[in-house]
Amino acid sequence: MSTPLASSWRTHTCGELRQDQIGSTATLCGWVHSRRDHGGLVFIDLRDRYGITQVVFNPEQDAELHRRAHALRSEFVIQVSGPIMARPTETENPDSPTGMIDMQATELTVFNSATTPAIPMDDHAEVGENARLTHRHLDLRRPSMQRNLQLRHAVSRAARNYLDDTSFLEVETPILTRSTPEGARDYLVPSRTTPGGFFALPQSPQLFKQMLMVSGMDRYYQIVRCFRDEDLRADRQPEFTQIDVEMSFVAQDDVMAAMEGLTRAIFDAAKPFGAGHELPASFPRMTYSDAIDRYGCDRPDTRFGLELVDLSATVSGCDFKVFTGALDGGGMVKGLRAPDMASLSRKGLDDLTEYAKTYGAKGMAWIKVVEDGFESPICKFFDDATLATMKSSLAAEPGDLMVFIADSKRVTNDTLAALRLHVAERAGLLTDVPDSLLWVVDFPLLEKDPRSGRLNALHHPFTAPNPEDLDKLDSDPENVRSLAYDLVWNGTEIGGGSIRIHDPALQLTMLEKLGIDKEEATTQFGFLLDALAAGAPPHGGMAFGLDRLVMLLAGAPSIRDVIAFPKTQKATCLLTEAPSRVSDEQLRELYLKSQVVD
Ligand code: AMO
Ligand code: AMP
Repeated sequence: MSTPLASSWRTHTCGELRQDQIGSTATLCGWVHSRRDHGGLVFIDLRDRYGITQVVFNPEQDAELHRRAHALRSEFVIQVSGPIMARPTETENPDSPTGMIDMQATELTVFNSATTPAIPMDDHAEVGENARLTHRHLDLRRPSMQRNLQLRHAVSRAARNYLDDTSFLEVETPILTRSTPEGARDYLVPSRTTPGGFFALPQSPQLFKQMLMVSGMDRYYQIVRCFRDEDLRADRQPEFTQIDVEMSFVAQDDVMAAMEGLTRAIFDAAKPFGAGHELPASFPRMTYSDAIDRYGCDRPDTRFGLELVDLSATVSGCDFKVFTGALDGGGMVKGLRAPDMASLSRKGLDDLTEYAKTYGAKGMAWIKVVEDGFESPICKFFDDATLATMKSSLAAEPGDLMVFIADSKRVTNDTLAALRLHVAERAGLLTDVPDSLLWVVDFPLLEKDPRSGRLNALHHPFTAPNPEDLDKLDSDPENVRSLAYDLVWNGTEIGGGSIRIHDPALQLTMLEKLGIDKEEATTQFGFLLDALAAGAPPHGGMAFGLDRLVMLLAGAPSIRDVIAFPKTQKATCLLTEAPSRVSDEQLRELYLKSQVVD
């Protein structure tokens, strides 16, 4: 009796044996999950990736074996053999797939003992993240991490199958390459053979996949590692994985339709893990300007309402200098309803204000809506009609708090977008609500950096302008829409892409708008411009953030929970203690000198 996973060491895995094997003999290998001494018997829960099987050592059958079993400890790696028996009725465990049987051990081999585990192996124990990352080999034995990595595999496999089935060709692109401008800092690799020269690790394969379209590959994909040296958050890692796609002879709708199919395949693959669900035939779309107006950000979480309301016109004639000052300075005043938060104490309001300030706001104004009117030190600045309009515009009810931010458009929106999520969480609006998956479209092509006044590409410099707005590229560049689209799931951007510029002259113009003159463009992107001039088809594509996608499917709080060996928030690896110093000899070979200023 053997199964596909049998080997020279085992006949079955620890998740495989069932009632129909009762009476036969099996050999299992695995880790001692737990040992219990009970009623003179030793019980071992033997664990491997596939499950847990109970093994019983009976002193009446073999006293010496029982004595050796008694000496087993957690995480010892063993092999056991013996007949499979039905469990006595009162000890059956219908919740476990192997819970109706056990193995009556007749042989035991200890492959290896184990030191006392540095972290507990069960999911319920609270373990600090530093300890988990330092002892990642143990952390990965925990059921939740085993499940997350299996889910990740299922998602990659589903993506690959879907893309294979729809004629996409997998092509690998270089890791040692030139800088690709995706907006983050590069990781650089010094060259030994070109003195003073550096490779950059790719922030994405953007330019290579575009060149593959020029080469006639037509439909490309790659499940590919990308590197970005940026400030880390719960949903960002310095190295992360994209499902990267590019297609020729397509318009925006074609790419979006293909990517909806891919998303559906991925969600289907997640179902056996209790994640994923049916998705609509086509996903809703929202324009960038709508998203900013109503939610303050370009990745709106539409699982709940609480939309932001522009009150600039309502308060324009009021006596509150904080509001009129912001309006006079070209800014805006927007409000948000905080449900049932009129009961907030002074301290609670101060805390909320401090939270708002972390997003750049200078303060946060508030008015409590109560049964017989309004309560706030700022009520005196508004007449009754204005207060009534604020209340009705925000659809506020007695018991609600109205909060207001007056500032530049950017700060007002950033702050209220964050407050909206904060308030929704406090109000319990995020639990047991249907998911929200939507496209954000019609992004601006360019945005002005408020500090330098320079124009930056909102997506990346290879994104095509919307042809309807091309005439504004010189006169009103900030109001040119692009053919870019992002896929947003419950407020997280899980993917983004665009139709690309395939005309070399337009690409040069675009680079010029970004302050890159022809000479610099030729130095930095000459290879792309040459490729575009060599017969480039219209093309476009998209990249999903695989880690983010799996994080959301797994319901994990951090992207680190779905990556086998992630980096910390400080971009270090606690397991291998990288980055580390290197020898002077290594530096010399690379024409480098290291000077650490403490
Ligand atoms: P973009 O920069 O939007 O587009 O990246 C695509 C997706 O990758 C994920 N992502 C990240 N995930 C984890 N950690 C990070 N540091 C990180 N940065 C990005 C996000 C994001 O939506 N070349 C273009 C794609 C294209 O135009 O086809 C690109 O890289 O989920
Ligand atoms: P002040 O006049 O500075 O005492 O502020 C009066 C109230 O307005 C306080 O509750 C401040 O938190 C709030 N406030 C200050 N600046 C802003 C702002 N830019 N937007 C909204 N409220 C503000």
